Amino acid sequence: MFHVLSAAQFSKDEILEILHSASQMEAILEGPGFCELAKGKILAALFYEPSTRTRLSFETAMLRLGGGVISETDVTFSSITKGEVLPDTIRIVSNCADVIAMRSKTKGDAAIAAEYSSVPVLNGGDGSGEHPTQSLLDLYTISKEFDLESAMNVAFIGDMKYGRTVHSLTTMLRHFPNIKLQFIAPDALQIPDSYFQEGDLKQEALSDEIIANADVIYDTRIQKERFEDPAQYEKFKSVYIFDVEQVNKMKDSAILMHPLPRVNEITLAVDDLPQARYFQQAANGIPVRMALIAKALNLSA
Ligand code: CP
Repeated sequence: MFHVLSAAQFSKDEILEILHSASQMEAILEGPGFCELAKGKILAALFYEPSTRTRLSFETAMLRLGGGVISETDVTFSSITKGEVLPDTIRIVSNCADVIAMRSKTKGDAAIAAEYSSVPVLNGGDGSGEHPTQSLLDLYTISKEFDLESAMNVAFIGDMKYGRTVHSLTTMLRHFPNIKLQFIAPDALQIPDSYFQEGDLKQEALSDEIIANADVIYDTRIQKERFEDPAQYEKFKSVYIFDVEQVNKMKDSAILMHPLPRVNEITLAVDDLPQARYFQQAANGIPVRMALIAKALNLSA
């Protein structure tokens, strides 16, 4: 069964196949806007942590594929609040749906769900663990601008410790050895050792040189909800701010990405600059998730 649990599960060929399928889905979106590939199929969206983009793009993807959607979006209205354990919930939901997209507060929950589910589980973010469907849409966004086999610099900036999108995208980028990775974060929020490799750059200071040499800047939010001590969050929340002056230091051909939501790390004026790519990046979530649902359900375009 095709579960999506971790970026590490994907071979390079499988990633490229999904990116190709996403481009076919994008053609459907740009043409008729929908199809009937998933007619009669149901997606269950179980989102036990806040989400706008991931849940709505999964739901939109299923509706554009001609399928239906059921959802639990507020844990207070779920029997989990009465003490039901995740395996029981998943057993019940997999009787109701053909595929499950889920987000939870706890790292590893998607893997537990997959163990007990009789239908594919798509991880839409498990705590500070991973967000593999986000990294596929991130890669799709990069691949629309650059040849993934060419030499380029990708600079990750912000919260590398709790930023699950960074963890998953880093893992996928390892399949493309000409891409150099740089991690710019406060020491306390640096990339975990398990994601760091010899040849990467890791430092606290965001220099003009890094901005000027980057082909992709992947900015991230400091993940307030993961901090036990609010004072620590306050200390780090404004360490890196991308304003027009900063973005003007980037190459004309470079792109500024962000998984969103942003809080204060990119000023609104940057949205109008040619390097800003984060809204297009979010929009790419729909064709990529259409491709993943189609693969999970063994549907062919
Ligand atoms: N990028 C992302 O995961 O956004 P949401 O939290 O809104 O789903």
